[in-house]
Amino acid sequence: TIPALHSVYKEFFDIGAAINLKTIETQKDVLTTHYNSLTAENDMKFERIHPSEGVYTFEAADKIADFAAANGMKLRGHTLVWHNQTPDWVFEGTDGAPVDRETLLARMKSHIETVVGRYKGIIYGWDVVNEVIEDKSDVWLRESKWLNLVGEDFIAKAFEFAHAADPKAVLFYNDYNECNPEKRDKIIRLVQSLQNKDVPIHGIGLQGHWNLNGPSLAEIREAIERYAALGLKLQVTELDISVFDYEDKRTDLTEPTAEMLERQAERYEQIFGLFREYKDVLTAVTFWGAADDYTWLDHFPVRGRKNWPFVFDAKHEPKASFWKIANWQK
Ligand code: G3I
Repeated sequence: TIPALHSVYKEFFDIGAAINLKTIETQKDVLTTHYNSLTAENDMKFERIHPSEGVYTFEAADKIADFAAANGMKLRGHTLVWHNQTPDWVFEGTDGAPVDRETLLARMKSHIETVVGRYKGIIYGWDVVNEVIEDKSDVWLRESKWLNLVGEDFIAKAFEFAHAADPKAVLFYNDYNECNPEKRDKIIRLVQSLQNKDVPIHGIGLQGHWNLNGPSLAEIREAIERYAALGLKLQVTELDISVFDYEDKRTDLTEPTAEMLERQAERYEQIFGLFREYKDVLTAVTFWGAADDYTWLDHFPVRGRKNWPFVFDAKHEPKASFWKIANWQK
């Protein structure tokens, strides 16, 4: 028999999946059997939920919230303030010119109040600010309209608005390349600066877009240790283990090779072993999808190239990776 993954991890952390309106139909069984937490892959992002000023389109997000509730699953919110998937109107006046700081902050506030307020008591935690740290060396914060028009404190303001809208919500800073030592230290600097100003931040989201070769276990461990030392809860928020390295642009495979699946299983085994050691600080591990029939990696970094990053295959059958993380006692 196939054990339910979230039951296996009951004493450790929640097991989550990112979903959309299509996958809650096509992956319903695997989702409701193995996962006990959900994140909307796109449907709660600014452009989806607030496409023009004062116009909120909550239909898709509501369906996702209903699906989570109907199946007794937890729900995370993703994401309130991001440089991506945010409509232009947010940053522009009616004349198309950039708005001033106060106008943009007022728009941010009403967006956060409305969205967080709507799902108060339903969504237990939010990725409040997403990916504001720059990947390139020597630059701290990523260039964005939020940064340019408001200044660095747009980050603190977002957390303050979210906390005011739902004082019980767990508020996360979320980023990728989070185990890269240089970027990790910049994330830590950001979080410490927020903590020094008593900004309500409660957690760090490690996205976990990883592959067969990196980051190393040692880098993952070091990142967890350093982030945990800040006294915050941690979650892995967007886990997938790509079978291709970032530089690998091959397009000839229609199925993963046996070697890829074997190495992926070994990776999952080691990574989940590490996660289990940190159960006191790691409260959830969310995959950025649920099974190999659907992943954003099918369009990144090579459009239309299939990838197989999860522990369930395209038919929702357990892969070797599943057995390594489910049967870890044996
Ligand atoms: O909805 C349109 C569809 O109408 C159109 O036909 C199609 C053509 O390309 O595009 C569709 O929109 C795509 C959308 O996903 C829905 O599938 C966008 O082009 C595409 O850019 C968008 O990608 C999303 C990406 O965020 C955008 O940055 C991915 O689905 C989503 O998985 C991804 O998620 C992010 C997290 O939010 C933050 N961390 C990184 C993670 C992976 O990039």
